[in-house]
Amino acid sequence: MLLHGPNGAGKTNLLEALHVGTQGFSPRARNDAQMVRFGAAAGRVALRGTNGETGFEADVVLAVGAARRARLNGERLTSAERLRHELRTLVFTPDRLAVVKGAPATRRAYLDRSLGRLAPARAGLPVEYAAAVGQRNACLRRIRAGSSSSGALQPWTERVVSLGEDLVHARAEATDTLSGPFAELAGLLGLESATLAYDGAAPTLAELEARLDRDLDRGLTSAGPHLHDVRIESCGCELRSFGSQGEQRIAVLALVLAEAEILLLRTGLAPLVLLDDVLSELDGDRRRALASILLQGGQTIVTATAAAALPVEPAQALAVSPGVVR
Ligand SMILES: Nc1ncnc2c1ncn2[C@@H]1O[C@H](COP(=O)(O)OP(=O)(O)O)[C@@H](O)[C@H]1O
Ligand SMILES: [Mg+2]
Repeated sequence: MLLHGPNGAGKTNLLEALHVGTQGFSPRARNDAQMVRFGAAAGRVALRGTNGETGFEADVVLAVGAARRARLNGERLTSAERLRHELRTLVFTPDRLAVVKGAPATRRAYLDRSLGRLAPARAGLPVEYAAAVGQRNACLRRIRAGSSSSGALQPWTERVVSLGEDLVHARAEATDTLSGPFAELAGLLGLESATLAYDGAAPTLAELEARLDRDLDRGLTSAGPHLHDVRIESCGCELRSFGSQGEQRIAVLALVLAEAEILLLRTGLAPLVLLDDVLSELDGDRRRALASILLQGGQTIVTATAAAALPVEPAQALAVSPGVVR
């Protein structure tokens, strides 16, 4: 489906609403007040759709200064983000370039989200590991301050090692799973020999013990997956430092589409794919390549300022102008 209309018409707002309505959170707004219409006290997204063969109705209410409320098929969810466990939506927005271009933390966060979708049983691992590191760090500081004995650290160190090992395996597996389709899709979009590799090894007890003096000094755990990275390269060159904006954009797009392909394979259900402003920096050949990839999959919603930007006839084209969708 193509959403077209001039700048400021509300295309991104519409995609954001679809994301909020299916995932329970916005890919861009940092707080709910940004999503509620200026001057209004609350906003609501109500969606009706099908997930595979099954119909669903989702409803998310956003109110300034109150928690988000969500219902799925009439039933109240404990949190709006629970929607993520029921419906899958992947999104590309121009800000997502940060996944390639930004600091390692951005790539870790992106990978952990993907991991949660690809291996739902392990979705809680990143949070559990982060909590263990936080507790070990707090203990390091207590020992440094003299309010705890050094023996108190051992259980936290063991927990960081064991959860760290699980997290590294889960991340490496997710990266491996994504890397094949990622390379293939990037190639179709004109990015040659693209590779994706997890950069980091599971922490060991011996390693953390060897770093103990330094860790005590800083009050921080200095090894483990909270410091790892994902290498995204083309022809052996790291795209973070050497890629053009266009190449970085293709890499992010290929990552999103690779995940969509794997989710379809694993669950039999294609995720909803939202592509915001993806066409603007792609040349004609790449736009055609993207269009033919999209025609093979599930439902994709693409925005563009002009209907002609998409080189194929979409199943549906909606003209967006402020407050009106035709
Ligand atoms: N909370 C809000 N309430 C009302 N209007 C808003 C709000 N947030 C953004 N806007 C307006 O929405 C428009 C941007 O819409 P957007 O979806 O980003 O347009 P585009 O079609 O270019 O993607 C801007 O004109 C902006 O002023
Ligand atoms: Mg926009």
